[in-house]
Amino acid sequence: MGIGQEVVERCRKLATHTEEPGFITRTFLSEPMHCVHADLRAWMEQAGMSVHVDAAGNMRGHYGGARADAPKLIVGSHLDTVPHAGAFDGILGVVLGVALVKALDGRRLRFGIEVVGFSEEEGVRFGFPFIGSRALVGSLDDALLARRDAHGVSVADAIRAFALNPAAIGDARVNGLPLGYLEFHIEQGPVLESLNIPLGVVTSIAGQSRLEVKFEGKANHAGTTPMHLRRDALAGAAEWIGAVEREAAAVPSLVATVGKIEAEPGAGNVIAGSVRTSLDVRHTKDEVRAAAVKHLLDAAQQIAARRDLVASSELRLDQAAVAMDARLIEMLGCAARDGGYPEHRMHSGAGHDAMVMAERMPAAMLFLRSPGGISHHPDEAVLESDVVAALATGLHFVHQLERANG
Ligand code: GLV
Ligand code: MN
Ligand code: MN
Repeated sequence: MGIGQEVVERCRKLATHTEEPGFITRTFLSEPMHCVHADLRAWMEQAGMSVHVDAAGNMRGHYGGARADAPKLIVGSHLDTVPHAGAFDGILGVVLGVALVKALDGRRLRFGIEVVGFSEEEGVRFGFPFIGSRALVGSLDDALLARRDAHGVSVADAIRAFALNPAAIGDARVNGLPLGYLEFHIEQGPVLESLNIPLGVVTSIAGQSRLEVKFEGKANHAGTTPMHLRRDALAGAAEWIGAVEREAAAVPSLVATVGKIEAEPGAGNVIAGSVRTSLDVRHTKDEVRAAAVKHLLDAAQQIAARRDLVASSELRLDQAAVAMDARLIEMLGCAARDGGYPEHRMHSGAGHDAMVMAERMPAAMLFLRSPGGISHHPDEAVLESDVVAALATGLHFVHQLERANG
């Protein structure tokens, strides 16, 4: 079997480990993550790595360098998914990392390679992303461990339920100064496909704000309450959601999304008394993003005031835009050209573990074209030939890094 086919088949195998039969849904340390770990452990060990799972549930495979004291390159991405996901977001980067080590065929480099499958990146279960990579950079603190999911289970409880020890989170932290972090990831957008090229070298990752915005009114009988005497939280939220779409469309390159809405009590014959919505705002310029968030929250207040509702918000994430490392960008571009592929540089609108890893070490990302530009959807795909291109580029990158550290 060719390496492109093997990587794609492995991603599809991991996709069978899901919380929801018929869909791919795998949140932080949910039961099926045990099966993902079992498959990955086997593949990592076959490739010559020693494997452990750290206290944040990250799968870590280590392939030693020529010398015991050699520094390391970290190659990783995430193992969790959004609800009803595709098979490649995150997973591909981990499986490609294993393929990269396998392709070395036992040859030892001047540095070691650690392949990391992060336990959480999407922020689905706790409304807060990057739990896995935060543990590696040392920012998974007690406040984060105390956060609770929709069932009242804390991050620390979830770790214990997975038979891990939250008190040992400190041990997950990366020691010393790694040479860098490399993440392979599907583009999750249409740009590379529209240019008809397989790979993109990421220059920067857009910043993101995530908030919960709540509208409170008064639940009442849907049949007896005249329209002008209602305090309908859902109608207020709907008006605001329309405003979010209009305002974002008016600012170049700004994206804003309300992807989740929960109305209470949630019955067809009851006016909604309260509504909780999510708000996700992204832009490559932090000041544009901050201004947009303020503007959208002001709009929520105005709409609420006019409708005799109360609007409130809670900031869940304020992640600044992050530039990838200039030297590694250069190397990755050269590596693509060495493999015979065009070098295309682009920014990322999606968030990635590389944003967090960049706090502690030089970070770089290589995008693989997304057929149809589709992601966060079951139709997500990758071309086997693009997997081959990414692996060839990864190997050239590793050899360049070796020369640079010779
Ligand atoms: C991660 O998938 C994100 O929402 O950017
Ligand atoms: Mn994702
Ligand atoms: Mn991802």
